[in-house]
Amino acid sequence: MKKFYLETFGCQMNVHDSEKVIGTLVNSGYEQTESVDEAGLVLYNTCSIRDKAEQRVFNRLAHYKKQAAAGKIFGVLGCVAQQEGERIFERVPHVSLVCGSASYTKLGELLQQLESGNRRVTGLSLDTEDTFDTPLTRRDNPHRAYITVIEGCDKACSYCVVPFTRGPERSRTSASVMEEARRLADGGYTEIQLLGQNVNSYRDPSAAGWDFATLLDAVGNVGGVRRVRFTTSHPRDFLKPIVDAISANPRLCNHVHLPVQSGSSKVLAAMQRHYDRDQYMERIEWIKSSPRSIAITTDIITGFPGETDQDFEQTLDLLDEVQYHSLFCFKYSPRPNTSALALPDQLTDDEKGRRLTTLIERQRAIQLEVNGRFVGDTQEVMVEAYSDSNSLWFGRTGDNKTLNFSGPTRESNPLVGTYQPVLVTRASPNALIGEWAPRA
Ligand code: SAH
Ligand code: SF4
Ligand code: F3S
Repeated sequence: MKKFYLETFGCQMNVHDSEKVIGTLVNSGYEQTESVDEAGLVLYNTCSIRDKAEQRVFNRLAHYKKQAAAGKIFGVLGCVAQQEGERIFERVPHVSLVCGSASYTKLGELLQQLESGNRRVTGLSLDTEDTFDTPLTRRDNPHRAYITVIEGCDKACSYCVVPFTRGPERSRTSASVMEEARRLADGGYTEIQLLGQNVNSYRDPSAAGWDFATLLDAVGNVGGVRRVRFTTSHPRDFLKPIVDAISANPRLCNHVHLPVQSGSSKVLAAMQRHYDRDQYMERIEWIKSSPRSIAITTDIITGFPGETDQDFEQTLDLLDEVQYHSLFCFKYSPRPNTSALALPDQLTDDEKGRRLTTLIERQRAIQLEVNGRFVGDTQEVMVEAYSDSNSLWFGRTGDNKTLNFSGPTRESNPLVGTYQPVLVTRASPNALIGEWAPRA
């Protein structure tokens, strides 16, 4: 039996792509192993969003150079593959396969070429209408499933590699998304997460012509589905019908991830985000005026070229205004092919780091306060795991907060995958703590 090893870096789209790649490989007669030593084929599904992410895979490849001499085959998939293309063969001569996500439909063919002795094979075309949806997907988690609804990105944010690494936007038909959702619900999955780099620009290519809000609501109405999440949303395409759908359908999770990137309209213009602070705040107001309490989270980049102290202050002020429930923030990382590379006034790494630390500290205080408001509430969690180290269960609330709680011992009550009421007794900046509160 041919064995393969696959390590995944990057976002949820990559994680889900890997589930599809694994399914495709298993269907082609390969068996997955967790050990590089055992594998004949070693694959990395890579991320290129920041320089550090890219370096990680080249470090891995360098580490295993000797093993390639012993006949192991190495392949690079994903965003670094697409970005660097055949240059990877020059940089790392022991790599034999380079394939970007827009070419995964050809993966079976490429594997055959490798098996028949081809030393170097590539799948690098971005010129595609294809989406990689396959019935062969091997899902890791038996309760929560990802569904890709749209691939690629047609925006051109000036710092971002994604339009180069994942190609133009391609939406799946609503019929194929719904068919997958029904199949998953029948298979016992209760939580579904719809994925795309910009789910809001979903456009059903079939005659039905659904927009994203319609698709979201329909997935929430599939029998057996209890929670639907979606990620990620570009603010410009985030329209009111999405909030209306969440307000009306309790099976749509009360959480919106709406990456802002900066609180300064000047910086947003330089980033080519196509919205200003006021337009962003208009969307926040839609969400906040919902009769449901909807958690809002975001992404922020610190130290974008030309970001002054005053611009940065505006970002801090935005945090106070919005009161995000959580935040992912990153130092600006200059990336190949992107137009921001040519901008003047690049900041030093120290300055970017200083701003990042300030931002994290400010947000920590906000999260402590936001989370504190939940103390005394009973929240429904989907239970994900039990930790022996602290003897607590771990679950997630509908609005995507982590809740650790005491309850029955692991043996007496296998809660994983079930929905349980939990009384929140304490809050920290990054999690809630509580007690199992089964109804009498
Ligand atoms: N499609 C999503 C973003 C996906 S990338 C959107 O438009 O919001 C995830 C996050 O990585 C981005 O929101 C941004 O905050 C960050 N990011 C992207 N490129 C970056 C870069 N060059 N340097 C630092 N952070 C970056
Ligand atoms: Fe990148 Fe912008 Fe596309 Fe998001 S919308 S993936 S940040 S180019
Ligand atoms: Fe990284 Fe590609 Fe996702 S660059 S963040 S893996 S789309």
